[in-house]
Amino acid sequence: MCGIVGAIADRDVVPVLIEGLKRLEYRGYDSSGIAVLEQGAQPDIRRVRRTGRVSEMASAADAEGFNSVLGIGHTRWATHGGVTEANAHPHISAGVALVHNGIIENHEEQREKLRALGYVFESQTDTEVIAHLMHHHLKGGDSLLSALQRTVKELTGAYALAVMSRAEPDHFVCARMGCPLLVGLGDGENFVASDVSAIISSTRRVIFLEEGDTADVRRDGVQVYDAHDQPIDRGVHLSDVSLASLELGPYRHFMQKEVHEQPRALGDTIEAAIDAGGFPAELFGRNAEAVLSGITGVQILACGTSYYAGMTARYWIESIAGLPCNVEIASEYRYRAAYADPKHLVVTLSQSGETLDTMEALKYAKSLGHLHTLSICNVPESAIPRASELVCYTRAGAEIGVASTKAFTTQLAALFQLTVVLGKLHGRVDATREADYLEQLRFLPGSVQHALNMEPQIAAWAERFARKSSALFLGRGLHYPIALEGALKLKEITYIHAEAYPAGELKHGPLALVDEDMPVVVIAPNDSLLEKVKSNMQEVRARGGELFVFADQDSNFVESEGVHVIRTPRHAGVLSPIVHTIPVQLLAYHTALARGTDVDKPRNLAKSVTVE
Ligand code: AGP
Repeated sequence: MCGIVGAIADRDVVPVLIEGLKRLEYRGYDSSGIAVLEQGAQPDIRRVRRTGRVSEMASAADAEGFNSVLGIGHTRWATHGGVTEANAHPHISAGVALVHNGIIENHEEQREKLRALGYVFESQTDTEVIAHLMHHHLKGGDSLLSALQRTVKELTGAYALAVMSRAEPDHFVCARMGCPLLVGLGDGENFVASDVSAIISSTRRVIFLEEGDTADVRRDGVQVYDAHDQPIDRGVHLSDVSLASLELGPYRHFMQKEVHEQPRALGDTIEAAIDAGGFPAELFGRNAEAVLSGITGVQILACGTSYYAGMTARYWIESIAGLPCNVEIASEYRYRAAYADPKHLVVTLSQSGETLDTMEALKYAKSLGHLHTLSICNVPESAIPRASELVCYTRAGAEIGVASTKAFTTQLAALFQLTVVLGKLHGRVDATREADYLEQLRFLPGSVQHALNMEPQIAAWAERFARKSSALFLGRGLHYPIALEGALKLKEITYIHAEAYPAGELKHGPLALVDEDMPVVVIAPNDSLLEKVKSNMQEVRARGGELFVFADQDSNFVESEGVHVIRTPRHAGVLSPIVHTIPVQLLAYHTALARGTDVDKPRNLAKSVTVE
C-alpha cells in the first residue's frame, strides 16, 4: 500500500517523481509528497505534501517552483495516523528526509526512546521514528548508508525506505524488508521505486532488492548490500512491462480497460497450453511433474477476489482431478492451528504477489510442515512467487484499477489448467478428455468477448441498481463464488451493500431481507443446477423481490413481471464461471458510473494490501 519513488540525475527529477507517483497512485491515494535537495552553496531539503490526489500536490510543487537533481516521493494509504498533511510523507528530521512503505511494529518503544533523547514528534505516524533514528545515528558520526544499516536493525516490522540527507547531496539510500522495492538503472541517473511502472519512462533495467537489503544510489552507480551489510550483486533484469498497459488509451477508467482486455489476457494466459496442444505439467515449472504427481491434496490460500478464484478451483479440483481441496482465507489460516498434510500442495493466489496476509500464510504453511508450494501470480518477481517452489504467472498485464477483474479471470484460467494437469497425473483425465478441455479453453476468449457485448443491456440495468441501497447475489455450485465476486465488486466501487449466498441457502435466513426494494441478481447458467436455481428464484418472486438473471443463450428462460433476463453466450461447460464473471463486473462498473463514485480508486481501499 503506499508507493515510493526516488531519483538522482543530472536533470530536474521533479517531473520524474511526479510521474512516478501518478503511476503508483493505485497503491494508495490519501495523500502524497516529495522532498528534494535545494541546490546552492548550502544545500537544504524542500518538501511539499498535500492530502488528496497526487495532482494536487504536483500543482503545489509547480507553484512553488520545485526543481532539483535529487529527490524522493511518496503516495500514502493511511495506517498509523489519519489523513493529514502532517502525517503525509516525506518525514524530516533536521536535514534527513525519508519515505516509507510498510508498518513499524515497535514504533511505540522507539518513540519513547527518542523522546527521552529530546526528539519532538510532529506526526502520528510510525514512520517518523525512522527519521529521528536516522538523525540520531548521523549525529553520532555515521554516514547516511551506515546510519540506515544501523537503523533498520532496530526496527521490527515491514518497510521499504528511501532516505536522503542535505549533508550528503551526492546520493540517497534505500532499504527493503517485507515490502517491494527495486532500483532502476539509467545512463548517468538512477532511481528507486515500489514497482517498475513508476520509472518505466526512464529505464527498464532494474535490480530487485531482496529482504534485508540496503542500497546506495548515486548518479554514476548503485551498490547493493545484503542483510549483513556485505556488498552483493543481485543481477539486472530487463522489465517487459509495456507503457501501453499503464495508460488509459481510449478508456474512461482502468477498470473499464481491464474488463475489456480479458479476451486478450485470457488468450495470453492459455497460450502455452494451446501451443503445446495439451496440458503438460511444465506449465507450472520445470520440476512440476515430480511435485504434482506426488501430492495427495491441495490447500489453497488467498484473500479477497483471489480467494473466490480459489473457491471456484475447489469445485474443479475435486470433481475433475479427484483430489481433496481445501480453500482458506489467508488471514484466518495464518493464526490457527491448521491441519497440515506434507503431501498437500499449498497453492497461493495473489494478483500482486505482495499481499502480506497471503505471504505470511505461505510462510506459516511451510512452518507447519507443508513441503510443496505453488504460486499463481500476475506480477513477475514479486515476493510470493519468489518464496514458492513452483510458479505460474498469469499474463493479464498490469492491473491498475483497485477492483480486480482480468487478474481474477486469468487466475481462474490458470487454476483450470492446474486442475487438468493434476487430473492427468492422477489418472483422472485421459487423452480424450484432455483434448476436450483444450477445445473448451480455445473457445474461452471468444465466449468472454461475446459476454462483453452484453454491455449496453447491463448498463441499462445499472441505472436502476444505482438507486438501491442493498443487493443480493445468488449462485449455485461453481457459480456461487462468482456471486460472491459480483457482490464484492458492487460493494467495492459503488458502496452499495451487497451480499452473496448459495441460492439454496436463501430460505435458511437471508430470504427475510427480500422485499420489493431488494434487487436479487441470479447467476443461472444452463447447467445441472438450473432447475434448482429456478425454484430458488420462485422463493424470491413470491416475496415481491425483483430478479435480475444472467442466463445462458441456450436455456429456456422467459422474462416476466419482476424477472429481468440477460442472456450471456451459450453455456461454456466447466469454464462457465469465467464467462459469467463478465456481466457482474460490468454491472458493478456501470452502477458506479451512474452513482458517480471513483471507479479506479474507491474510498478506503488500495491495490496491494501489504499490511495486516
Ligand atoms: C479485489 O477487487 C480486491 N481489491 C481485493 O479483494 C484483492 O483481490 C485482495 O486484496 C487480494 O489481492 P491479491 O490478489 O493481490 O493478493
